[in-house]
Amino acid sequence: MTHTVPALFSPLPIREVVIRNRVMLSPMAQYRARDGSANDWHFTHLTRFATGGVGLVCFEATKVERRGLGTVGDLGLWKDEHIAPIRRITDFLRAHGAVSLIQLGHAGRKAGTMRPWDGFGPLDRSVSVEGEEHWEVIAPSPLPYLDGWPVPREMTLEDIGAVTASFVAAARRAERAGLDIVEIHGAHGYLIHEFLSPVSNARQDRYGGNLENRMRFALEVTAAVRAVWPAGKPLFFRVSAQDEGGWTLEDSVVLARELKAIGVDVIDCSSGGVGARYSSANAARQAPGFQVPFADRIRKEAGIMTAAVGLIVAPEQAEAIVRDGRADLVAIGREMLYNPSWAVHAAQALGVDPEFRNMPSEYGWWLDRRRKTGYPGAPAGDRTVR
Ligand SMILES: Cc1cc2nc3c(=O)[nH]c(=O)nc-3n(C[C@H](O)[C@H](O)[C@H](O)COP(=O)(O)O)c2cc1C
Repeated sequence: MTHTVPALFSPLPIREVVIRNRVMLSPMAQYRARDGSANDWHFTHLTRFATGGVGLVCFEATKVERRGLGTVGDLGLWKDEHIAPIRRITDFLRAHGAVSLIQLGHAGRKAGTMRPWDGFGPLDRSVSVEGEEHWEVIAPSPLPYLDGWPVPREMTLEDIGAVTASFVAAARRAERAGLDIVEIHGAHGYLIHEFLSPVSNARQDRYGGNLENRMRFALEVTAAVRAVWPAGKPLFFRVSAQDEGGWTLEDSVVLARELKAIGVDVIDCSSGGVGARYSSANAARQAPGFQVPFADRIRKEAGIMTAAVGLIVAPEQAEAIVRDGRADLVAIGREMLYNPSWAVHAAQALGVDPEFRNMPSEYGWWLDRRRKTGYPGAPAGDRTVR
């Protein structure tokens, strides 16, 4: 009998980068940076996923300028001082077989918020926060995110040029920081999505109005980043495939085709966040895999690789998504917070690497030995002994 490797554990080559499996740690903001700099928290948070077998480890939404900060604890790449602590992490990830991705973003009108567990409302702008000066809130149009949120200043054409230049500068720093992949954050109601969606974009100039105009900023930023990001390195784009007010899945297919034409390799398919308190990925009462149909449709209709995300928790569920050709990567967020070795567990469940050879020897040698010697009450998957 020939043994086929499960789709979830087949390598994925993109340009000159090979991801060892299809498991992606979804970008997750930690709100633990000081002045945008990564520290030991980010090192510990991200490296354990590499030792836990993940193929693609993603840094959280990392802000390209200080005005783009969601909250004071966001990561940044707006100055050279941010490079070294990130480099320390990417070196470790590479040494342990994982590919690294950084998500570059700008919070737009959602800048200046409290950490989620502190209430997730707008920060009190009359006082400094953790000793830091406040920052200006800018957006395509002077429309607040929700009632009670600050009215952003409408971006001028100079602002648009400056923010685009900040994306480019951050991508150059990402290269110096050793990242393998950049992902443009075009989702969840942040700046790029605010341009895409008619809910937040009421501009009368060439950046507002019809779909072509609303896509202009996203495409300009992406093309500018692609121009400086090494040709051998992949570029991803996270989209809210549909939102609460006017951006549709059909629009996302059109956008994905345009992005493909300018050198984007993968569309990472989330949803929502522009007109509701939480992006739909974090909203209540969603069913497992609820965003997979977005990744599936964009993949088929735009002819581009996709990542699926949102309540993907079980190995068989993840395997079926890739095996059935619905997405090329499976991004896992909260389940990976619960179990950073999710990828190793999934491999065991799917019959891959029973000897734990893909784990660092410091862990894998002992787990293999325990498996071989067996122990009373071992779970079924752990009883392939002697
Ligand atoms: C703590 C936390 C932080 C997040 N930060 C980001 C982020 O920085 N960028 C992003 O695109 N999505 C972010 N998300 C959304 C996740 O990447 C993911 O899309 C979402 O949690 C759904 O996947 P899950 O059900 O596997 O958690 C965050 C989610 C969580 C729980």
